[in-house]
Amino acid sequence: MIVTLTANPSLDRTAALAGPLARGGVNRARAVTVEPGGKGVNVARVVTLAGQPALAVLPADPAGPLVAALARLGVPHLSAPTTSAARTNLTVTEPDGTTTKINEPGVPLSEAEAAVLAELLLDAAGGGDGASRTAVGTRTAGRGGPVAVSAGAAAAGTPGAGDGAARTVVSTGTGADGALVAVSPGTAGAGHPSGAGDGADWVALSGSLPPGVPVDWYGALTRRLRAAGRRVAVDTSDAPLRALAAGFPAAAPDLLKPNAEELAQLSGGDPEALEAAAAAGDLAPTVGAARRLLDQGVGAVLATLGGAGAVLVTAAGAWAATPPPITLRSTVGAGDSALAGYLIAAVAGRDEPARLRHAVAYGSGAAALAGTALPRPDQTDPDRVDVVRLP
Ligand SMILES: Nc1ncnc2c1ncn2[C@@H]1O[C@H](COP(=O)(O)OP(=O)(O)OP(=O)(O)O)[C@@H](O)[C@H]1O
Ligand SMILES: [Mg+2]
Repeated sequence: MIVTLTANPSLDRTAALAGPLARGGVNRARAVTVEPGGKGVNVARVVTLAGQPALAVLPADPAGPLVAALARLGVPHLSAPTTSAARTNLTVTEPDGTTTKINEPGVPLSEAEAAVLAELLLDAAGGGDGASRTAVGTRTAGRGGPVAVSAGAAAAGTPGAGDGAARTVVSTGTGADGALVAVSPGTAGAGHPSGAGDGADWVALSGSLPPGVPVDWYGALTRRLRAAGRRVAVDTSDAPLRALAAGFPAAAPDLLKPNAEELAQLSGGDPEALEAAAAAGDLAPTVGAARRLLDQGVGAVLATLGGAGAVLVTAAGAWAATPPPITLRSTVGAGDSALAGYLIAAVAGRDEPARLRHAVAYGSGAAALAGTALPRPDQTDPDRVDVVRLP
């Protein structure tokens, strides 16, 4: 199972206009779509589309539209309740393809809410240590109704009030098959929507952090998850990425998925020079920057390079993959799809070149789809991705 964390989720509302946007005027939308958004949510969506077990962990109002949108899409999820409504990101598209985005600031997460979210993630990943675990959340399995999950004393809504004694997971509600699910007491994996009772194969920590969450939170989570035997992938940028790297090697994940800009944020290099070199076929600066991360304890670096494909660097070697020619429609979700492709291949036990091949196939599959659409396996073409071993 692939568990994803989206600390800063959104409800993505897209309004398609029938004509050009009239600034200051009244605009009429031809169609409006509402989708759950956020990078970890996207990864879980792609894994689910591929028919593989996934679980999206996120802070959300169990009765709110974000959870409803996830349930509508059939994406298994586990939500830590929040007092505030999810942010809405608005996209306005014009017939000529012009896209205008208005993103709300992230909804602040209190220290207590972040702690509950972390415990929920540890429990969902099956990486808990069993000590003073306190979490309450709501999960929806497949297309079933909501399943309330509470563990420890947090059922009373008081995180941290657990006595540390025998942890209890109680699930009631409607499972994937519409049947009532009641599991009590249980271990972390009991009653898991994916059916996987022995924890996550991989945990992906994706995207930005909401206001109120300490900037080094991903580092703390990575350490705890790895200590519990979980494999961890991180895809983030800016301050949370730099804070994570400041905690290497203790906080080094098994996989880091930077794009060229994020790799430059870590290596101190010039992102445009890195990208230009890669576009011109010179991958040495990318591989060099990735190898420095390996020296700091990172297990593998999947550096995605937009239309130039991606590079995978591990202790076993370095490989580059070039996507097949595609008709570029929208790169929204390309990076998340690339990470999902890697993880799908990794969980299937595929080797490093195959993981890279799938990453690029899924990324380019997303780039070939319009708007926010994410690729199904039949919309990817791994056989046409060219993978070469680098010196
Ligand atoms: N223009 C393109 N043509 C073909 N494939 C593309 C293009 N842009 C992106 N991709 C595919 O998607 C993958 C990820 O893209 P990119 O490096 O842009 O990720 P990212 O910057 O992390 O994206 P995101 O905005 O989703 O975080 C690439 O490795 C490639 O396979
Ligand atoms: Mg990205």
